[in-house]
Amino acid sequence: TGAFTYDPGFTSTASCQSKLTYIDGDEGVLLHRGYPIGELAESSSFMEVCYLLLNGELPDQGELDNFTHTITRHTMVHEQLAQFFRGFRRDAHPMAIMCGVVGALSAFYHDSTDIHDPQQRMIASHRLIAKMPTIAAMAYKYSVGQPFLYPDNSLSYTGNFLRMTFGVPAEPYVVNPAVEKAMDRIFILHADHEQNASTSTVRLAGSSGANPFACIAAGIACLWGPAHGGANEAALNMLHEIGTPERIPEFIARAKDKNDPFRLMGFGHRVYKNYDPRATVMQKTVREVFEALNVQDPLFETALRLEEIALSDDYFVEKKLFPNVDFYSGVILSAIGFPTSMFTVLFALARTVGWVAQWNEMITDPDQKIGRPRQLYTGPAQRSYVPVDQR
Ligand code: CMC
Repeated sequence: TGAFTYDPGFTSTASCQSKLTYIDGDEGVLLHRGYPIGELAESSSFMEVCYLLLNGELPDQGELDNFTHTITRHTMVHEQLAQFFRGFRRDAHPMAIMCGVVGALSAFYHDSTDIHDPQQRMIASHRLIAKMPTIAAMAYKYSVGQPFLYPDNSLSYTGNFLRMTFGVPAEPYVVNPAVEKAMDRIFILHADHEQNASTSTVRLAGSSGANPFACIAAGIACLWGPAHGGANEAALNMLHEIGTPERIPEFIARAKDKNDPFRLMGFGHRVYKNYDPRATVMQKTVREVFEALNVQDPLFETALRLEEIALSDDYFVEKKLFPNVDFYSGVILSAIGFPTSMFTVLFALARTVGWVAQWNEMITDPDQKIGRPRQLYTGPAQRSYVPVDQR
């Protein structure tokens, strides 16, 4: 391979040093700044995890109150930003809208784009975390033809998002505390995941010194793919297609067939060769949400049975394919009332803190250089140009 290491898909390349997130894929361990994801999901809040990822330590009460107040203050978007939504077709995929509208933020906040000024970087980071729920809710409202709702800063980060999404001006919206808690936990589970494709995209885009809002739009574009954040949408669509547990063997057979491109969505992971610890929490949260909302969904039974059958099949055992975070999230999100097209938007909302924390870390890293991979050239050797009439 000459002077370069050939590593398609970067399966064995560490592109950076990071203090944010640790994963042990063989053991199924995920730590943020040293804290296990299970403990954070159980006992913490999304605001606290955001603070932890951005600042390195858990906040004390005063720091948490200040941070929450700062994020709350930035929840509104410029009134003119609403015009961008109106330029989209009503049936546009909300992720298409997110790519465009979040990218458009770069034209609104010129006072927070000097990437060498730590204070400006922090304001840009706060703005992004604060405005994502507003923009995500607007994307949803636009798709269903309801008016946009302004943020209500008396609510929590997550409660405010639920109200902007499901509330209407005609009547007061009461946030269901169990749904709020479940949603907050889902946000925690998606907050960061070291150098995944979208985070690497944000770092690569940012390595040229690009505008932070544009870098996050690049991350959103990458997240959209079904092999990454789009898998939650694909997983629920798959469960719908399977329908009843009797049809599971047919889909398992397809997933194992080398000549069939079909894969079990929400299964497998580049790093986890054991149960994804996020999937464990997610599965538990499904039961809590169903109980709180007093709903049942036969698709959950199908999902549980699918997991059981797959995990006792040699193919999945040998290849170490386990449910990942996306396998159960769709079942919860649809019980809460989100259409499948919004699932990846929620992932983007929650992952924004990881993206901005990683972006900040990259910019302050003394080893930081523009990301510039090399290649192994496999095209023609040098040859002479032939005029068109002689070809
Ligand atoms: N169903 C059936 N076979 C699979 C699956 C699956 N879901 N995932 C991997 N395999 C097989 C694959 O065919 C390959 O077989 P072989 O070695 O015989 O060619 C082997 O397992 C290794 O797969 P790979 O594609 O080389 O592994 P990767 O690390 O490049 O891909 C992955 C990881 C997550 C893209 C893949 O497992 C996949 O496509 N899963 C389904 C999509 C999904 O759920 N993605 C969400 C990931 S977690 C959240 C996120 O990151 O956004």
